[in-house]
Amino acid sequence: MDIPSGVYDVLTDTRTVITGDRVQIPFELDRAQYKQVNNLLKEIGGRWDGRNAVRAHVFPFPVEDFMRDCLATREFPSHFEQGWYPTPPRIVHDILEHAAIREGMSVLEPSAGTGSIVGPAAGRGAVVDCVEIDERRVHILREQGAARRITEADFLDLDPLDCPHGYRRVLMNPPFSTAVRHVMHALGFLDDGGTLIAVMPESVLWHSDRATIEFRELIALAEGEFSPLPDESFAPSGTTVRTLLLVVDAEPGGPLPTHGWHQRQPRQLDLFALT
Ligand SMILES: C[S@@+](CC[C@H](N)C(=O)[O-])C[C@H]1O[C@@H](n2cnc3c(N)ncnc32)[C@H](O)[C@@H]1O
Repeated sequence: MDIPSGVYDVLTDTRTVITGDRVQIPFELDRAQYKQVNNLLKEIGGRWDGRNAVRAHVFPFPVEDFMRDCLATREFPSHFEQGWYPTPPRIVHDILEHAAIREGMSVLEPSAGTGSIVGPAAGRGAVVDCVEIDERRVHILREQGAARRITEADFLDLDPLDCPHGYRRVLMNPPFSTAVRHVMHALGFLDDGGTLIAVMPESVLWHSDRATIEFRELIALAEGEFSPLPDESFAPSGTTVRTLLLVVDAEPGGPLPTHGWHQRQPRQLDLFALT
């Protein structure tokens, strides 16, 4: 999303101090300008701290490098574009009830946000690896310290075969707009005999594009279940999108393209070797 020119001028003003975890603007802005600047800083993750000793927007991650990159491109990643809607605690609780985590169980969270699922899963004894595309949220995940491994990457670019093992559980709440792609990709990291639990938009039940139809067919074959979540479940995270919980078990030898399934496929190179 573009940084409006008025906001850009304020943030690049030599009097503005951007350092550590805060942005300080020690000069008067008119009302409209302040509103624009405040909205953008809040959208990036900042919170106004009006105490005399602070009087700055404070961020839960080091904002200096991040802001430098944004100002260089005159763009910032809005959380709507990246689909950042943290899972509210009630739904995390439901996910973990279905997951029946045991001590030491391996879990993947492939779009981990700020760790709403990672933290409680680790709290129940899981060994959690996670992936997140956004450097600010990766920083927060590192601070949280709950995951064994945190990969800053586009999950869709990761090859399941680069992962030496599958996971007993994949727990996820991917960006709603690309949820089917994320869940399909995540199946490639699931152990045979494991379970995938995903929050998805309710629209996966009726969207009629080919990918969604094939997804529903696959989940039906695997006897997975879609259970609608109560309306307004994501209101605490700022969206009224209707959601559901998908729970699907990967029966060994079943129809899901699991990690084991990927390993059993002939490698492209092997095919060439035969000709
Ligand atoms: C709906 S939020 C959920 C966050 C977290 N799973 C939770 O439950 O609170 C989706 C998250 O996916 C991240 N994301 C979006 N696209 C991604 C991608 N291609 N690879 C990895 N993470 C991605 C976003 O930055 C955001 O943090």
